[in-house]
Parts: sequence; structure tokens; C-alpha cells
Amino acid sequence: DFHKEPKHLKLASDGLKPHWDKQQLQRGMQVYKEVCSACHSLHLVAFRDIGDLGYTEGQVKTFAKGFQVPSINPDTGEPATRDGLPSDYFPSPYANETAARAANNNALPPDLSLITKAREGGKDYVYSLLTGFQNPPANLPAELKPGTGLHYNPYFANLNLAMAPPLADGQVTYADGTKASVDQMAKDVTAFLVWTAEPKLVKRVQVGWAVFIFLLIFSGLTYLSYRNIWADKK
Ligand code: HEM
Repeated sequence: DFHKEPKHLKLASDGLKPHWDKQQLQRGMQVYKEVCSACHSLHLVAFRDIGDLGYTEGQVKTFAKGFQVPSINPDTGEPATRDGLPSDYFPSPYANETAARAANNNALPPDLSLITKAREGGKDYVYSLLTGFQNPPANLPAELKPGTGLHYNPYFANLNLAMAPPLADGQVTYADGTKASVDQMAKDVTAFLVWTAEPKLVKRVQVGWAVFIFLLIFSGLTYLSYRNIWADKK
């Protein structure tokens, strides 16, 4: 079997005391915008949502403006595009599925909003996939070799996928000066996609703790009042 199990990716948002590493999420969003958004949409994320990553209202507006979103020409009724607004959602770069497939060797780049939830292996899988492109091993049977326009990746279910390796060392220049190795960019964009898939993750765990502690105290009080009520019945 040439298929590999995903490598573990450790993030600040893991575990029982999760938090968002906003610096990393901002880097990840930069990778998404400069690389992935050429082919993938984020249909469930609105530009205004990135305010949670530490951007000001002005920065959100400028960022949204950098995207073209579908609209309709009011004079002709023809489909057109306009600059993005904070209330718009990260658009697909293609007009429709036919155009998307035509540009990608008949494969369809999936929307990435929920990708860290949708695939078995979650964030580990996405990180491994992005860093896992390699030459096919010498002993790979001919029928498993990548066909035209396909790329070998042992983390992908059928070993060959229609996405070319999207990352190369130094591909983005990080605003915070972090060195943009393939590994670093893969970690950062995956962290960003964990956030897009569950922006309320940290809040959810915090509320969970509050509920848990409340129930502990409440159980203690219930027990004490039980003892009190039955104290004189021997
Ligand atoms: C598939 C992530 C950039 C084209 C995928 C998948 C992921 C992904 C997670 C799903 C694999 C699966 O189905 O399990 C990313 C990320 C990118 C990026 C994080 C940026 C760092 C690109 C770019 C292109 C592209 C720039 C186009 C030039 C595709 C295509 C597929 C795909 C065509 C479908 C592959 C297939 O089903 O064979 N990508 N991608 N991706 N991506 Fe990307």
C-alpha cells in the first residue's frame, strides 16, 4: 500500500485550553489569498468575519475590495463583477463549474470553508497533503502512476490528484517577517482553514468549561441540601 497516514499538526487551537494564534491566522489568510484563492472559494466566510483575526474595519474594506464578486450589470442585465464589500463572501474565481473544470484538467477545486472537517484526518490531512507532493516511488505499479495533469501525493486517497503542488519556498512575503518555507505556509494556511471551518471553536470550549464547573458546584450544593433535608430522619 503506497498510501500514507497524515502527519500530526499541532496548533494553538487544539486541546482543552485552545486559543487562536491570530498572528498565524493572518499569515494563513495571506497564503489563502495569494495562492489558494486562484482556484478555491470560501463560500461560508464573509470578508467581515476576518475582523475576528485582528484586522480593523478599514483593513477589512480594503481586503474585500481586492476581490471581484459576481453581480449583474444594471443597464444590460448581463452577468458582471464588482469590487467586494465586507458583507460579501469569499468568491469562487470561476464563473461556474464548467469553467472551473475547464481550467483544472476536468477536476473541481472544492470550496475550502469546511475542508478541515470534511476530510478524514482533518487538519492533519490538509497539512500533509500540502507538504506531501513527491516523485512517485520507483516500485509504483504502472496503473498507479500519475496520468497527464495529475500529481503524485501519498496522502491523497487515490495517490494522484489534479492539483499541482501549490506552494514553493518563498512564495509569499509574510507581513510579519516569518520565513515562508513550504512547511510554514502549509501550517499557517491549515490553521486558517481550521478557523474558517469553526470560528467559534475557542468560545465553544470556554463555554463548555463554564458549564462543567457550574454543574460541579451545583452537584455539590444538591448533595449538601439532600444531607440537610434528611438530617433528622435516622
Ligand atoms: C483540491 C487545498 C491551491 C486546484 C484541493 C484539496 C485541498 C486543497 C485540501 C482537496 C483534496 C481532497 O479532495 O481531498 C489547497 C490549498 C491551496 C490550494 C490549501 C493553497 C495553498 C490550489 C491552486 C489550484 C488548486 C492554486 C489551481 C491552480 C485544485 C484542484 C483540486 C484541489 C483542481 C481537485 C483535485 C482532485 O480532485 O484531483 N486543494 N489548494 N488548488 N485543488 Fe487545491
